[in-house]
Amino acid sequence: MKNFKEKIIIALDYGDLKPVKELLENLKGRAFFYKIGFELFTSCGARSVDLVKDYGCKVFLDLKYHDIPNTVYKAVKSAGKLGADIINVHASGGLDMMKAAKTAGEEASYAAGRRIDIIAVTVLTSLSDTDVKHVFYNNMGEKGLEEADGIASGLALHLAELAKISGLDGVVCSGHESLKIKNIFGQDFKTVTPGIRMKAKAKNADVHALSHGETEGLKEPNGGQKRIMTPSEAFKAGADYIVVGREITGAENPADALANVHADIEKS
Ligand code: C5P
Repeated sequence: MKNFKEKIIIALDYGDLKPVKELLENLKGRAFFYKIGFELFTSCGARSVDLVKDYGCKVFLDLKYHDIPNTVYKAVKSAGKLGADIINVHASGGLDMMKAAKTAGEEASYAAGRRIDIIAVTVLTSLSDTDVKHVFYNNMGEKGLEEADGIASGLALHLAELAKISGLDGVVCSGHESLKIKNIFGQDFKTVTPGIRMKAKAKNADVHALSHGETEGLKEPNGGQKRIMTPSEAFKAGADYIVVGREITGAENPADALANVHADIEKS
């Protein structure tokens, strides 16, 4: 796979700039795209974006905006001014909100003289089919597990369609939906896939069991992610970008961990 190193987005889930600087130094020349989310942005604000930009890398500002259209329009414009290259919103905010985000993104791109992609979160990769059924549909007892099969993917496809209709550039989705999304909504509709694990131990079927009581002593399997894939599986499944967090940032040697991600993709 060509240029895949630029398609690996490393999640900077830290609470201050010191470990961020260390990681940027450590991965200089090897990593080119970073994600700044709630923790880092809430702690350090625009300084975190400036720091990543100082290293010549791109920024995915993962603040998952979800508010009335006017508020999201203004937030996206501000994010564009800060230097973000990808900005996201929640697709469940609706068509008007997403259209407002896209308009702001276009205006910010024009003002900044660079492309800024606006993408939508479909269904969080931490939500299993059963969780989605609990949150968005109805409550159910232990018996209804089978009925929930495929519900997360179904909802992700529906939300991806709303994002496409709104003119957004793509979606954040699990590896289990990206191929379908690209086939339906076009190859230029970008898919960004988190929930990456080097050993995708729990396939979707196992996840039902894991999230229903069989996890004693196994606190938070896969760090709370439930719809997971390995890096190579995610790219094979059509992801344009993968988001890798703790597999790299939680490793004793992040450079080795990144090299392992590269090796996994190269050998596939
Ligand atoms: O450490 P891990 O690889 O699980 O990190 C995944 C990152 O991707 C986290 O920063 C998380 O907030 C983010 N993310 C996600 N699922 C989404 C959207 C973003 O896991 N749907």
